[in-house]
Amino acid sequence: MSEILKQIQAKAKQNKKRIVLPEGSDERIVKASVQIVADKLAEITLIGNKADMEKRFGVSLDGITVVDPNAIDITPYATNLYELRKAKGMTMEEATRLAKDEMYLGVLMVEMDEADGMVAGANHSTGDMLRPGLQIVKTLPGIKTVSSCFIMVLPEDKGYGESGVFIFGDCAVNIDPTAEQLADIAIASAESAKSIAGIKEPRVAMLSFSTSCSASHPFVDKVNEASNIVHEKRPNLLISGDLQLDAAIEPKVACIKAPKSEVAGKANVLIFPDLQSGNIGYKLVERLAGAQAIGPICQGFNKPLNDLSRGCSVEDVINVVAITALQAQ
Ligand code: ACO
Repeated sequence: MSEILKQIQAKAKQNKKRIVLPEGSDERIVKASVQIVADKLAEITLIGNKADMEKRFGVSLDGITVVDPNAIDITPYATNLYELRKAKGMTMEEATRLAKDEMYLGVLMVEMDEADGMVAGANHSTGDMLRPGLQIVKTLPGIKTVSSCFIMVLPEDKGYGESGVFIFGDCAVNIDPTAEQLADIAIASAESAKSIAGIKEPRVAMLSFSTSCSASHPFVDKVNEASNIVHEKRPNLLISGDLQLDAAIEPKVACIKAPKSEVAGKANVLIFPDLQSGNIGYKLVERLAGAQAIGPICQGFNKPLNDLSRGCSVEDVINVVAITALQAQ
């Protein structure tokens, strides 16, 4: 396990949080839950049928709260959902049906303070995992955009980023962000750098195919507009305007292309201009450079909700629960 994950787990144990895992029908989720409780990493609520899970997966769920949507009074959850969504045309009938859905029920439990955070996505797409959260939990005060980041841990420290660690945002949620959304992504990624990755001074590079307006195009203007918005909202945050990747991370190139920038050559938070570059970028670094990609970590939600890859392992589930617990602190 990387040093950074060890630190995240240690911090999560210091102040145990309640995490709901709605996908109780998934063996990886159930086995991870048993391990998490044994390791005293978090308190776990599983959604599903206890006897069924114990029999199918050969585990004891003692010490884990299990909620069966078919055996509880669903009315308080349905009423809450109806109240939140009636202005959008949701009927009580629809709310009752949705509240029994494990993903909606999990998010409603977080919203109603029965859990501090949720981790799901082992057998749901990112979109299906995010949508109930976007509809119910909404965003943090001052932030309009839910986004995501990865903690990228390079296999060796060659002097890039923060001793070989970077935050990449947004690689999983916003397909074609506006300048305002890019600004929210940059601010939230800098916060995640501090609170989750332990980076004391985030240095945020707004990535582009242009450095210091070396090219002229609306894509470059958007990145610079986002940077200006961040300057206004967070005057103390170190953030660049448009920077090419090499100018962002390589001091020798930064000296030539952006000699006056406080960020160029030493960026530790990389903000991609859209989801195509972000998603492709993190996978390139993961596969070709052998970096560990921790995430996607959702940021900007009013309460912590996190997504799992459908290819996740038991260990991945445990790590995302630890990150979610840390966000809940
Ligand atoms: N931040 C805040 N609110 C949002 C956001 C956002 N990023 N996106 C949508 N919303 C709000 C909408 O305004 C709407 O609010 P309302 O209903 O109260 O008016 C609500 O959320 C639901 O919006 P929808 O229109 O139903 O959702 P949408 O169809 O826009 O889907 C989603 C949002 C799921 C995030 C979409 O943008 C998406 O699919 N993103 C890409 C996910 C993906 O495929 N990622 C790549 C794979 S992940 C990986 O490889 C690690």
